[in-house]
Amino acid sequence: VACGESVFVIVHVPTLIERKRDGGTLTTVEIEWLIAAFTSGDLPDYQMSALAMAICCRGMNSDEITALTRAMMHSGRVLDYPAGSPPKIDKHSTGGIGDKVSIVLAPLLACGNVWVPMISGRGLGITGGTLDKLESIPGFRTAMDESDALRQLERIGVFMIGQTADICPADRKLYALRDVTGTVPSQALIIASIMSKKLAENLDRLVLDVKWGSGAFMKTAFEAEQLAAGLTNVGSSMGVQVAHVITPMNEPLGRSSGNALEVSEAVAALQGNGPEDLVELTLDLAERVGDQPRETYANWLRDGTAWNKFIQLVEAQGGDAATLERNPHVAPIVRVIEATQSGTVAKMDAGLIGHACLLLGAGRRRTTDTVDFAVGCDRIAKTGEAVSAGDILLRVHARDETSLAEALPLLERAVEIDSQ
Ligand code: URA
Repeated sequence: VACGESVFVIVHVPTLIERKRDGGTLTTVEIEWLIAAFTSGDLPDYQMSALAMAICCRGMNSDEITALTRAMMHSGRVLDYPAGSPPKIDKHSTGGIGDKVSIVLAPLLACGNVWVPMISGRGLGITGGTLDKLESIPGFRTAMDESDALRQLERIGVFMIGQTADICPADRKLYALRDVTGTVPSQALIIASIMSKKLAENLDRLVLDVKWGSGAFMKTAFEAEQLAAGLTNVGSSMGVQVAHVITPMNEPLGRSSGNALEVSEAVAALQGNGPEDLVELTLDLAERVGDQPRETYANWLRDGTAWNKFIQLVEAQGGDAATLERNPHVAPIVRVIEATQSGTVAKMDAGLIGHACLLLGAGRRRTTDTVDFAVGCDRIAKTGEAVSAGDILLRVHARDETSLAEALPLLERAVEIDSQ
């Protein structure tokens, strides 16, 4: 309704919910109003839940998803940078088992002439979170106010922090509702949730690692392609250059899963000794989003440049860099699982290993759970490797016999050896 210079929006919320329920579309103005009202508390959870379910069942077109993303992004602060600052770049992974890429990639990218303002999440369910892994470094602070974060970018070109209270509050509220209303799997809501947080970093370029497989959110490559297309479309329509890779997550990435164990493996990669799959994926992402050729990034992993940048990052955020080369979290029990026959490793199921790590205490079932930094699995054999009877297939790091006994049956099912 126009009244003089002002435009008032009259919204009858049940009508909007019914329209979406019946397969109709919402306008940008309606979506903006709904998200603003939800963030301020004027729109009650029961109406937002009903709307989320209608979106989950009916989907959204690309204009609606872009409007939803933009409204969620503007529900809080969008980072601001001084004029003339270097390009701001970041990566997002849809999450998997043993995925410690961010810990290697962020300092690696920051060795070039770019800024990497990385805001990451915590682990939930079977997929780990970068923040939990970083917090296993004694003293490492993942909370920082915006002005300190900006000063750190100016000084060393990178920060790795968690979402602050002011960034995308609408997403935090909506995610909590989705979690308890069966509406997590909606593609539209997933895209808006992921991109609103990343775009609040005010990026120039973003690279996405969209995973599929037993240890990923998306179970098939086709679903991952669809999600990647949706994420890319929103990013591009908001002026960000978005590249992506689609990667399988049927076995863990690298050879470890669990917070401190993964930091040790990331440290090895930053010192030029990382497992091949972790290093190759890191370089694939770096060359897609960074300002340097792949060979330069590969050299920076080998010649200590990336390692020095990581030490700067750890020290800048209060971490004790002296602990990086000796894992400070030692689990009381380390159980070796050996091959019972010779052959080729045919399966090392990421989903089952992720579940086992969750039972060991490496992950959270609810957002309020605490994680045990020490537990998890390492020395995980890779599929296609030849093993002899008695060789190590993986080692389990457990806090106690009870959690070990819960995890072992899953780990036994996770592994298959082809003796042909
Ligand atoms: N990650 C997010 O941040 N949000 C989702 O909805 C799914 C994955």
